[in-house]
Amino acid sequence: MSKTLADELLKEVKKRRTFAIISHPDAGKTTLTEKLLLYGGAIRLAGTVKGRKASRHATSDWMEIEKQRGISVTSSVMQFDYEGHKINILDTPGHQDFSEDTYRTLTAADSAVMLIDVAKGVEAQTKKLFQVCRKRGIPIFTFINKLDREGQNPFDLLEELEQVLGIRSYPMNWPIGMGKELCGVYDRTKTQVELFQGDDHSTIAVRKVSGYDDPIIKEMAGDYFYDQLQQDLELLDVAGDEYDYDLIRSGELTPVFFGSAINNFGVQTFLENFLELAPIPTTRNSSNGPVEPTEEKFSGYVFKIQANMNPAHRDRLAFLRICSGKFERGMAVKHVRAGKDIKLAQPQQFLAQDRDIVDTAYPGDIIGLFDPGIFRIGDTLVQGGNFVYDELPTFSPEIFAKVVVKNALKHKQYQKGIDQLTEEGTVQVFKTIGFEDVILGVVGQLQFEVFEYRMKGEYGVEIQLQRMPFQFARWIVDEKIDPSKFRINSQLVKDKNDNYVALFENEYAMRTAIDKNPSAKFLETAP
Ligand code: G4P
Repeated sequence: MSKTLADELLKEVKKRRTFAIISHPDAGKTTLTEKLLLYGGAIRLAGTVKGRKASRHATSDWMEIEKQRGISVTSSVMQFDYEGHKINILDTPGHQDFSEDTYRTLTAADSAVMLIDVAKGVEAQTKKLFQVCRKRGIPIFTFINKLDREGQNPFDLLEELEQVLGIRSYPMNWPIGMGKELCGVYDRTKTQVELFQGDDHSTIAVRKVSGYDDPIIKEMAGDYFYDQLQQDLELLDVAGDEYDYDLIRSGELTPVFFGSAINNFGVQTFLENFLELAPIPTTRNSSNGPVEPTEEKFSGYVFKIQANMNPAHRDRLAFLRICSGKFERGMAVKHVRAGKDIKLAQPQQFLAQDRDIVDTAYPGDIIGLFDPGIFRIGDTLVQGGNFVYDELPTFSPEIFAKVVVKNALKHKQYQKGIDQLTEEGTVQVFKTIGFEDVILGVVGQLQFEVFEYRMKGEYGVEIQLQRMPFQFARWIVDEKIDPSKFRINSQLVKDKNDNYVALFENEYAMRTAIDKNPSAKFLETAP
């Protein structure tokens, strides 16, 4: 490799941090994202990331259904610069309903920021997203938000992280007061107090102290909060986890920051610590073994496909995570699955909500490729090579519905719609044995609405989805499958590759089937 390219790649890779924010709706993800973007100067005014309430309709929402429900259905990507770093934030849908797409987006992130509401603690969606990050062993940074409101005792929150998520924690700072009585936070690494003050709490002052027992804190916070801080931090020093960078890197210990996103309190400290501790783009596994980001040859994989971002143009974008080498507009790469060389002519990059044509990009970056229907989720693109990246995980559907076509004459379009939409990977399709009825399986209810909407809008087919009582799908691997053993509260179907899948109404039905079929393997996802 030429020395100049090697140096350039190393320099660019070191600058990059690519992460996703995982949280439950309403924890403050949009607010935190806005504040982070403001540090990068990527947007002029907070409130423009994603329309909330009043401005909702004018911004990123790309689909009528999003407008109607005022939610962002699909994940997008935002890039900004901060003090020599290039930061990529992968957005995940903020609504309770989410999809496999959300999970897969997490595979493109090198670390995650887990945002928790101080009053609510660990909530359902955070838990699910956390588990996906956990499996990948990526570092997880925790921001406990809304400190300006009454919340749970910080020790209880740490305990919850350990009990519910099974992750140990190291508080980087510690609240002094909370809610109306919030005085500030004590920064354990810098031994300083960040004061939350002013009538409108808009002034944030930083005071260097000699330690948490510095009497100056008493002057700032009063006797009560000073004593409380002593007790808390002594307890943390004795009984809390030690700071361990290796455990942070392997995702076993989460650094915890307390703050209030809406007041921009603790956000900058968080960002600066995050940039120091979060990993740069790292090695990815492929069929050829590990691929280093600084490898000269460009490579990446498609982790998400989004159709009709702009209904006027009927465009389809494939989101590619760059894993190695340098991307240059117009470059020729091999589309490994298709066995074809293709030219990457009009790639897009995302800055806040604007899409820009990108000329160069590096490992850790996400680019959007115009897709005339040639990409599938998981496709690898390589320059002068022939390997593929490890398959993206699939997830077990939890909600099921039977599809009924209202107009039987539209069969051809219906089939086309089913094929294309399943290719995008937002729904999984199953067929009943014998009758060939179509059953859809998803991880979030919203995907059904999107599917129905798009079948009508893009393929002209009106469908009706009849909810089925199943909650679990298990792929069955056995030499001989006896359908009679799957009759009680369950149904045997086939997936698109003709694998047998059993759908169960409840855990009990699933247990019974497992007991009755000792020779079979029951897999959560397709073999
Ligand atoms: P999300 O993307 O995770 O769903 O959350 P979002 O940022 O939209 O925030 C959810 C609500 O929580 C918003 O209030 C937001 O203003 C509020 N919020 C965010 N951070 C803080 C914080 O640090 N302290 C307090 N007290 N509130 C916070 P909303 O009333 O639902 O919306 P809006 O009318 O403010 O837009």
